[in-house]
Amino acid sequence: MDLVKKSIQILKDGQTADGSFIACENFGNYRYSWFRDGSYIASALLEYGYTREAYKFIEWGAMVVNRYQEKMESCILTFQHGGTIAEEDFFHTRFTLDGYEVPGHWGFNQFDGLGTWLWFTCKVYMRDSQLIPSSDVINALNKTAEYISIVWPAGCSDCWEENEGGQHTYTLASIVAGLREYCSWSGNMEYKERADSVLKYLKQNCLTSIGYIKSVGLNVSDANLIGLCEPYNIVAWDDPDFQKTLLRIENELMTPGLHRFLADTYYGGGEWVLLTAWIGLLYTKHGRIDDARKLKTWIESVATPEGFLAEQVPQHLFAPEKYAQWEKDAGKIATPLLWSHAMYLLLVKEIDTRN
Ligand code: BGC
Repeated sequence: MDLVKKSIQILKDGQTADGSFIACENFGNYRYSWFRDGSYIASALLEYGYTREAYKFIEWGAMVVNRYQEKMESCILTFQHGGTIAEEDFFHTRFTLDGYEVPGHWGFNQFDGLGTWLWFTCKVYMRDSQLIPSSDVINALNKTAEYISIVWPAGCSDCWEENEGGQHTYTLASIVAGLREYCSWSGNMEYKERADSVLKYLKQNCLTSIGYIKSVGLNVSDANLIGLCEPYNIVAWDDPDFQKTLLRIENELMTPGLHRFLADTYYGGGEWVLLTAWIGLLYTKHGRIDDARKLKTWIESVATPEGFLAEQVPQHLFAPEKYAQWEKDAGKIATPLLWSHAMYLLLVKEIDTRN
């Protein structure tokens, strides 16, 4: 089985004509589209030369932002006047494939998806000077940058859709990265200052003597902290604080697949394929190629016979007593998860460029 070929096929098949990506076709709660998953998926497709598909996702994101821009504007106004924003009034996180908010409590407000979309989109336009953004895309980029740079102090759920209303290190990093990239793309230097002030907050509140922590007031590790370095480049690889953070992740969360965090109970808290690929990508970029290759082999070993990568593998569970209940209530673990395939593709590409 050629897992690279299969993964590309799965990503392409999971894209609608409008450009959205379904997170996972076979899992009821994930038959929707997220800015977070989609940006990483589009990023992977772009690396393999599927530019049309990647641009189409950017356009889908722009369509959704423009559709809901009045919500964003009213959040900005409320926030600037010291008011409280009701959770359903924030820009949502989970959308139908044709770009409408999904009613209900799930994922009302998570800024990291928008931060990642902003970061990815601005990078794409800077990388290819022949590519001219449409007025819709330009409007959506301006609106997104304005929204996240003003409303972020309100807090939100983390990228695992938990800990509502908090300040989360990975989320803040995605905002900094998005605003920096937006500043470079637009030339609007005000956004450098805005990015700097988010970064200052992050350094003051999310860094302790044992390295970066998951969230303000949550002094624990989370695998998503690798995002500070890869892809967001907010901290350098050789920054001692990042190395401490990485060591803690490796010691606490790698078995050998990478778990999200110690207290994870979702499907018993298994090993996440996308995180395992993600840390492998980080290793590859910084000379730990043998470690990365082992992780790539591990990922290939957990693919199903038809070449599907799951969201997580129920091995070395952190909370084994919770597994059966999740399976009973929500069905089998989401498989294939497009985000897992995307991160695998990014890992393979990076390893290949070093061969
Ligand atoms: C994860 C999110 C992800 C979503 C869709 C959730 O369980 O926590 O990070 O965006 O699934 O893949």
